[in-house]
Order: sequence, then C-alpha cells, then structure tokens
Amino acid sequence: MPLKITVIGTGYLGATHAAAMAELGFEVLGLDVLPEKIEMLARGEVPMYEPGLDELLRAHVAGFEGSSGRLRFTTDWAEVAEFGDVHFLCVNTPQKHGEYACDMSYVDSAVESLSEHLRRPALVVGKSTVPVGSADRLAARIAELAPAGADVELAWNPEFLREGFAVEDTLHPDRIVVGVRSEHAEKVLRDVYAKPLAEGSPFVVTDFPTAELVKTAANSFLATKVSFINAMAEVCEAAGGDVAKLAEAIGHDDRIGRKFLRSGIGFGGGCLPKDIRAFMARAGELGASQALMFLREIDSINMRRRAAMVELAREAVGGGFLGKRVAVLGAAFKPDSDDVRDSPALNVAGQIHLQGGQVTVYDPKAMANARKVFPTLGYADSARDAVRGADVVLHLTEWRAFRDLDPAELGDVVAQRVILDGRNALDPARWRAAGWTYRAMGRPAA
Ligand code: UDX
Repeated sequence: MPLKITVIGTGYLGATHAAAMAELGFEVLGLDVLPEKIEMLARGEVPMYEPGLDELLRAHVAGFEGSSGRLRFTTDWAEVAEFGDVHFLCVNTPQKHGEYACDMSYVDSAVESLSEHLRRPALVVGKSTVPVGSADRLAARIAELAPAGADVELAWNPEFLREGFAVEDTLHPDRIVVGVRSEHAEKVLRDVYAKPLAEGSPFVVTDFPTAELVKTAANSFLATKVSFINAMAEVCEAAGGDVAKLAEAIGHDDRIGRKFLRSGIGFGGGCLPKDIRAFMARAGELGASQALMFLREIDSINMRRRAAMVELAREAVGGGFLGKRVAVLGAAFKPDSDDVRDSPALNVAGQIHLQGGQVTVYDPKAMANARKVFPTLGYADSARDAVRGADVVLHLTEWRAFRDLDPAELGDVVAQRVILDGRNALDPARWRAAGWTYRAMGRPAA
C-alpha cells in the first residue's frame, strides 16, 4: 500500500508540497485553518503566483477531467489524523512583532490540533523553518498528547525551495535533509522521497538540532553572499569601480561561484530577512550570540541598500521628491513571484512616496498584494503607463519583461530619460544608446 500523506498548512510551501506529493504518486490530503484557502485549492486555484503550480494542482485535484484525483483538501483535523501515515507540517513561522525571534504559534497550534486526534501509527514531519531545539520540544508535546503514544514519531525535514522555482525544487531537490530518531523514521522518509533519491538527490541523515540548523545556516550563508557583494558595491561606488565586473571576475573562482553575487537593492522576502534575525535571537538564548554577530552587519548592509536607492533617486530628480513623478518597475521581492513580504522594491517605493514623491508602481504579478500592503501608492496597468510623465524610472525587481522593454519606445513617454537599475539586470549600453541616463549603485555613472 502506498503511503498516505497529509500536508498541514497550504501556503507557498504546503500547497507546492501537497501537489508534488500527489505527483510522486501518493494519496494526499491538505489541511489549512483558512476555509477560503481550502475552497480555492479544491477548485484547482492556487492562492498565489507560482510558475507551474496551477497545472500540477489541476493534474491531481479530484474533480478535474484527466486528473489523478489523488489530491484533496479539508479543514477537519480528525479526518487528517485518521487518513495519514505521514503528516507534513508546512505552516509559516513569521517574525514576531517588535522582536527578532520567530513566532512559533502556528507550528505549536498545528501540533496540538493534530496530536490529540492521532489514534494510529504515524510519522509527523516538520518542514517549517524553526529555531533550533523546537523539534525536541515538539516531540515531547506529541508524546504527551497523542492517544497512539509511542506509535507516533517526529522527524525534521527542512525545505529549501525557492519561490518562483518551487515546483522544480520540490520534485527535484538538490538535497534531502532528514533529522530522525529512529531507523523506522528514516525508512519512511526514504519511501516518501524514493523518486528524487532514484534520480540522485543526496540524502543527509542527521539528528534534530542539525536538521533545524541546516536550514538557518543555508539561508544565513545566502544572505551573507548577497550582503558581501553589496558591501563591495559600496566600496566600488566610493572608489569608482564597477561591482558587476567585480562580481563576474571573482565568480570565475569556483570556490566563490557566480550565484548570489548580484548586487542591487538587496534581499527580501518571507525567508532570508526573518530567518537571519530568528537565528540571532535563538543563538542569544543559547549563549552563542557572539558566533552570529556578523549577521547583524549582514542585515544592516542589506537595509542600507534600500536607503541608498532612495538617495540615488533623490539625486536624480534634483535633490527633493516634492512634485516629482517616480515610476517604479517591480513590487515583488524577486521576479516570478507575487510575494511582497519584506520586498525591497515596495519598501523603496513606499519611502519615496512618504517623502512626497508621486510614485506609480507596475509589477507583472504582484499588484494585488502590493495594493494590500501599500494602498496609497499609485498603480498602473503596464510598464508604459507607469513611466508616463516620469522624472525618473526605478527598476527594482528584475522581471524578464522589464529586460525586454524597448528603451526608445519608453523614452517617448517619460518626462526625463533617467533609469536607475536597482538590480543590475538591464543592459546599460542599450539604454544609453536610446538616450537614457543609466545609473546603478556601485557602477560608474557613464
Ligand atoms: C530563499 C532560499 O533561497 C531558499 O532555499 C529557502 O528555502 C527560502 O529562502 P527565496 O526567499 O524564494 O528563497 O528567494 P531567493 O531566490 O533566495 O532570493 C532571496 C532574495 O535575495 C531576493 O530578494 C533576491 O532578489 C535577493 N538576491 C538573490 C539578490 O539580491 N542577489 C542575488 O544575487 C540573489
């Protein structure tokens, strides 16, 4: 009998995981506490933009022509507990208000709600990003609450998917990390991931704390890489160097590598910023705060980028934003996503607006989410409409569609041909050839 799988929490991570598990051949039941989310998913609609996810969902959600019917959704904890051999916890762990630490209340309440219904053997698998030590604590809580007692076990299996590549990363992970306390738990997870394992995905077996730390360490490293190149951009700016060339040149050293060395307005999103902060907070609780002091600097370099972009824009419009029209291309925290959580682009747009600029934003997918967070900004239906009459154009999220824009055509509708590339992703020569002043942080002015 193939394993029956449940997925608890159907956000970016859970919705993708549920569809991917169905794709791997399992019967899957997804649960969320928000009925409207569950209703959408059951209709085959994805509540966010993630390339390829709607197709995958419709290939498996019961009720679609030609679908496997292996994927269903519910809001009923008893049904989930009764159904599953393996329960994946995919709820979010946002940053607490006014603190660095992460908010574990969704994980805690999911574990409580599930455990009290667990009357049959099951493996509960945590995927949420949590402070190290949580798995130990949650295992004890499950043992206390689950009627099936020792027949219920916990494992920790961090998730490394990138938004925009979530489907690909889930079906073909570059590594699978499992924190387990028994051979049985390891065996169950080898069965779950049999297909990617057969394709050659490395399988790393660890204890609980290591599995939890792998995730925060990986995200800290990535954040460090981005802030490193952004610090180099600050030096290049002061010294008249070109950070894009510098990144290319150091990236040829394969010990360094080229990835994650794109300088610009820095990292954002629902993961990197809050994960490094939660990591610092947890290290403090463990008496190891000194080890992560450098992350404070990583965070502060990153936040400085947003302010530096605002300053560059101010300079470009002659020293003050009052009465100036500023076009912002991009609102999502990165391309191929509609996620605006801690988005550098939206943050810069908001700062300029608050300082008196008339800001008009366009993003191919993130408009609805941006409007919810920043209803007072202007929004346009296309890049062309956004830049109409603009004194300066800011390129803040590197969507392919923005790279494909025709500088000559846009040049006809702006007030001033000035473009500031906050992502170092446009071709300066192309824009300059069309009569634009092109500027990017850490690169020569002409
Ligand atoms: C990240 C991790 O990559 C993923 O493994 C983890 O599971 C969740 O967090 P994600 O938040 O989807 O994924 O985005 P990612 O692609 O890592 O980008 C993070 C931020 O860094 C974005 O704002 C991006 O624009 C920025 N970035 C990335 C740069 O500024 N420069 C780069 O070179 C790369």
